[in-house]
Amino acid sequence: MDYRRMPIEAESPEQFGYDRVRSNLAESSVPDTPLRDLSVALDDLVLMYGDHRGRPGLRAAIAADGPGLGPDDVLVTPGAAAALFIIHTSLLGPDDELVVVRPNYATNLETPRAIGATVRHLDLRPEDGWAVEPDRVAELMTPKTRLVSLTVPHNPTGAVMPEPVLREIVGLVERHPSARLLVDETYREMTFGGPLPLAATLSERAIGVSSLSKADGLPGIRIGWLTTRDRPLLERFLAAKEQILITNSVVDEAIAEVAFARRPERMPAILDGIRVGLQTVRAWIGDHELFEWVEPRGGVVGFPRFRADVPVDVDRFYRILFERYGTVVGPGHWFDQSRRHFRLGYGWPTAVDLEQGLAALTAAAVEAWDAPRPKATRRRGAAVGNVMVELERQIFRDQPRVEEIVQSGSEAVGLSGDGDLVIRLPLAGPDDQGRQESADEPAGDPGPAVD
Ligand SMILES: Cc1ncc(COP(=O)(O)O)c(C=O)c1O
Repeated sequence: MDYRRMPIEAESPEQFGYDRVRSNLAESSVPDTPLRDLSVALDDLVLMYGDHRGRPGLRAAIAADGPGLGPDDVLVTPGAAAALFIIHTSLLGPDDELVVVRPNYATNLETPRAIGATVRHLDLRPEDGWAVEPDRVAELMTPKTRLVSLTVPHNPTGAVMPEPVLREIVGLVERHPSARLLVDETYREMTFGGPLPLAATLSERAIGVSSLSKADGLPGIRIGWLTTRDRPLLERFLAAKEQILITNSVVDEAIAEVAFARRPERMPAILDGIRVGLQTVRAWIGDHELFEWVEPRGGVVGFPRFRADVPVDVDRFYRILFERYGTVVGPGHWFDQSRRHFRLGYGWPTAVDLEQGLAALTAAAVEAWDAPRPKATRRRGAAVGNVMVELERQIFRDQPRVEEIVQSGSEAVGLSGDGDLVIRLPLAGPDDQGRQESADEPAGDPGPAVD
């Protein structure tokens, strides 16, 4: 195996230090859950090796979601990540081929590459709404295909394929002599129009993968699973799990079983939070002409990009975004895509952090404008240089022109001639005040790269 660290992990906020980030828009989950919220009684738990397939009650709860599935169709793993690793390494060798959508959660591309398998990318395009076309899947399949790999809802775009499309791809796989279908269902609980059927219920050739990390906000217990009705195959996956881990942590599994029991009472509020976050981002995108996106249909992330006519220096954009505004997103290179795209997570930050982070994206985009900067001609009140540049450009759609900028604490507030609030932008800390004095100055040395 040719291992190398993936940028999405090496550059993740938890590796980088959460304390260095003010607005974290890089996450792909809802807020992390404190253990106390689950009220789990662990004192009598015996710290033994658990059931190798996973705690029976937990497997039963997972299987209950899929008509026709039973606990023996489930293998519990430490996170969806381990399930994906087990599946890829069990089914692919250097002489095999895989068809996989791109962009994708990086592991779904990286592990097959590390194995040395031939990776045939199904490149999704924003122009098509990030849709997966079964005809294009068929074109990429060859007699050597062992796995067709989908992620629904999709990371990083939030796209959700219609059920007939999924069934068509299941049909393609079933007609192939040796291919199997992998569906990464890690965001399934957060499908806005209602979830697709579990892949494992659709075919014996299909394998589903999911976890408690995303919708449930429990990435710290590292509980995921795979589901398949192909029992000999599951036995092979179990052999792989035993060689790597023997079994999961019994502590994690006990907490997971309680989390499953609490899902009906916890999930409505979680889904409400996601809806509100999505509305906030929708309003922000529609407010100006810097960014565009295909609105997500599920999950907690979207994959906006700079509009083609925005002349931004993206490296400077990401540096300013972090150095000046303490804000992080997932830059396109985490997903093998142009850095003009970025993954924006709207389910993790608080409402205030999300608003501030979005305003920071706007401000950093303007400050990283890669074209001659206009002079700030009117500067009233406590005008703050680069904010003025933005307003000079009148990039905000359907909004009154800003006539006055007032600095209020850590914010710059732009007011119309009538005194109405038009824009609110977070300002950097005291270190940056000097740099913001002059509007026509370049952004200066932005310091070390952060992405
Ligand atoms: C699509 C997808 N699959 C799997 C994972 C891995 O999640 P975990 O191992 O925490 O369950 C992630 C994490 O971001 C993901 O986005």
